[in-house]
Amino acid sequence: MKLEDIQRHWQNWAKSFGKDLRATTKGRTAKMIEIATIGRVVEGARRDLKRPLHILEVGCGNGFNCSWIARNFTDCSITGIDYIPEMIEAAKLRRTEDGIDAERLRYLVGNALQIDNVDGPFDIIFTDRCLINLNSWHLQQQAYLGMAALLGPGGYLATIENSTEARARQEQLRAGAGLPPRPIDSFNTFIEDGRFEALAQQIGLDIVATQHISSLHDLLLYVLLPMTNGGIVDYEHPLIEAAARVNIDLVGAHGQDLGPVGQNRLVLCRRPA
Ligand SMILES: C[S@@+](CC[C@H](N)C(=O)[O-])C[C@H]1O[C@@H](n2cnc3c(N)ncnc32)[C@H](O)[C@@H]1O
Repeated sequence: MKLEDIQRHWQNWAKSFGKDLRATTKGRTAKMIEIATIGRVVEGARRDLKRPLHILEVGCGNGFNCSWIARNFTDCSITGIDYIPEMIEAAKLRRTEDGIDAERLRYLVGNALQIDNVDGPFDIIFTDRCLINLNSWHLQQQAYLGMAALLGPGGYLATIENSTEARARQEQLRAGAGLPPRPIDSFNTFIEDGRFEALAQQIGLDIVATQHISSLHDLLLYVLLPMTNGGIVDYEHPLIEAAARVNIDLVGAHGQDLGPVGQNRLVLCRRPA
């Protein structure tokens, strides 16, 4: 899809769903996994840097992640940017409802491809399914380099983005089970495993962690349950939430990911201090 059509897609979702989670995802339980992942990144950086953190989310949508960080890590200051003004308006509404100070949680309209005018440096910069909305690796790489340039010494760069390999494996498993293909949404360009790592190393960042964060959850949601219920992807089935919780525990507490079958992947890198 062309970039302007992708931007229009997000504008439509922002207008249709406002500050509802549905403006940015169909998956409430996938969001539970993402939030737990972001929480681990913030906790790790706090342990390491031992100071109040400045955090930037690029492609923050209607502010779900930023508001969660502000509520749970009250000594951090957070900046969220998104290129859809309606998303930023919804994020500001959420901030007001959550009673968070606008000095501590700042929102800006801005494009991931031009963030050099954002005031850095930051201790953590992260994306959560934003870079997949750039329609080539060339542009995804450009955005990554722009973010890396805003990292302070010892700062962390985390991408939570979708994996080409994991999605392909999921499709193979569905096909093996006699389920029809699930085409990737046309506004998404998934990213090959290893690309962020190679780029990070080229620019002198250390790789701290790479994890397929949603394998158990996605296996159940997209393969196992559909095998038993006539092929329906049932986001609100109680087992899916249970799988999300166990998945969070497996990856978080036990450091075990179940390999490239869940499409969401964390790559966490760090600028040497
Ligand atoms: C899947 S949503 C995720 C939102 C948020 N990260 C979350 O997890 O709740 C993707 C968001 O990225 C934003 N986005 C996509 N491309 C962007 C770009 N080039 N610059 C800034 N924002 C972008 C969209 O407007 C949308 O709000």
